[in-house]
Amino acid sequence: HAPLLGGKAREVFGQRHPRSATAAAEVQEKLGSASRISRDRGKIYFEVPARCLPEVHRLRSVDNLFVVVQEFKDYQFKETKEDALKDLEGLVKKLPWTDPLRIWELNNSLKKKKTKRKKQNLQRTPAVGQSAEEMQGEASQNEEDDNEQSETKNELRASSGAETKAGDERKDEGDAKVLKFRVTCNRAGDKHSFTSNEAARDFGGAVQEHFQWKADMTNFDVEVLLNIHNNEVVVGIALTEESLHRRNITHFGPTTLRSTLAYGMLRLCDPQPTDIIIDPMCGTGAIPIEGAMEWPGCYHIAGDNNPQAVKRAASNICSLLKKNENKESSASLGVPLDIVQWDICNLPLRTGSVDVIVTDMPFGKRIGSKKKNWDLYPACLMEMGRICTPGTGRAVLLTQDKKCFAKALSRLGHIWRKNHTVWVNVGGLHAAVYLLKRTWERVEEKRSFW
Ligand SMILES: C[S@@+](CC[C@H](N)C(=O)[O-])C[C@H]1O[C@@H](n2cnc3c(N)ncnc32)[C@H](O)[C@@H]1O
Repeated sequence: HAPLLGGKAREVFGQRHPRSATAAAEVQEKLGSASRISRDRGKIYFEVPARCLPEVHRLRSVDNLFVVVQEFKDYQFKETKEDALKDLEGLVKKLPWTDPLRIWELNNSLKKKKTKRKKQNLQRTPAVGQSAEEMQGEASQNEEDDNEQSETKNELRASSGAETKAGDERKDEGDAKVLKFRVTCNRAGDKHSFTSNEAARDFGGAVQEHFQWKADMTNFDVEVLLNIHNNEVVVGIALTEESLHRRNITHFGPTTLRSTLAYGMLRLCDPQPTDIIIDPMCGTGAIPIEGAMEWPGCYHIAGDNNPQAVKRAASNICSLLKKNENKESSASLGVPLDIVQWDICNLPLRTGSVDVIVTDMPFGKRIGSKKKNWDLYPACLMEMGRICTPGTGRAVLLTQDKKCFAKALSRLGHIWRKNHTVWVNVGGLHAAVYLLKRTWERVEEKRSFW
């Protein structure tokens, strides 16, 4: 029996592009399953056999994964707070927990294997030499160490939970280790008589009583999810402890993009083998790194005018190379990605030489200013138009400064045609991803040597 799994793609796609369409398309392509896109922001649901769990973890556009215990499409909440909460409490003993808990256990055993492999690799890896450390940069090195440690700790914590069978907890309270759990309630809708905290508290109390587990908000083995969106209620069990969006990045900057959104942007321009893909304003390199990992048949070039950003991106690539050294696979051969310091308005690239441009432009908030964008945006679009192949070239550009972008695009409509817009949420800001197609129009060359 195929369990129903859920994934959350935080960056919601709205308007012409249906919400979470990227994640649903990825599930279809990689797992061959159709997804139901929920009305609840950014969530998709799909059924796959339990043996596909490792592949599910390899999905690139979802932030969090969970297994569904039960979903109620039209839950009738009682009117008063007391009655509604009592009802939720009563629900716990009626839910079909057994199969979802088996999936949770299977998931833990997979993590346990991964942790074991990681430990063996750590033992094999010699200490980092002086020269490598110098390349990494001092402050960021600590950041990397912290990330690495906490990841390992998290995995160990989860696997310790798997040592006792979750379903057997009720029977073997005596000598078996008591599982720790927490309930997380996500609630959206204005017609509820209770808060998320109240729902989590009362539902959690009933879970504790039913399984005889111990509540622990920070150091838990099982995370029970109670998702309430208007009249839709989904009870699930989390299969990921921390969001999957931090993969591959060890050196963060002020505006590091989520890898899941970077993946979605790259996917939008449908990279083909041998394509040359550039991110001319790469910051810490989230987009080109995701590109090089997921589309290794393409050649990726990243650049930024800020030396600190170039250093961080280079450090991220170094960390990736080091991580790959421990893998006995083709990934250890290297990463098809180069990084350069440059100015987007004057790129050291030949006219018409680039197939795809994917970049996250300065919003004018934390980086640059709205005032500077009025000059920067048209100059960028012009130079990107020069290096991009006429007729087949495409660009996927993210910005929150939509007004400035629209104005710049209207001035350069002869070289760029807007194909569609996807709305995304970036750190609470309402931003847009534009897919542009390069027209056949030739661009006047500023320098004869290109
Ligand atoms: C929104 S941030 C990109 C963040 C990046 N996606 C990441 O994951 O870290 C925009 C970047 O544009 C760079 N930038 C601004 N003006 C530039 C210019 N004229 N040429 C090249 N890069 C520029 C900034 O230094 C900054 O790193």
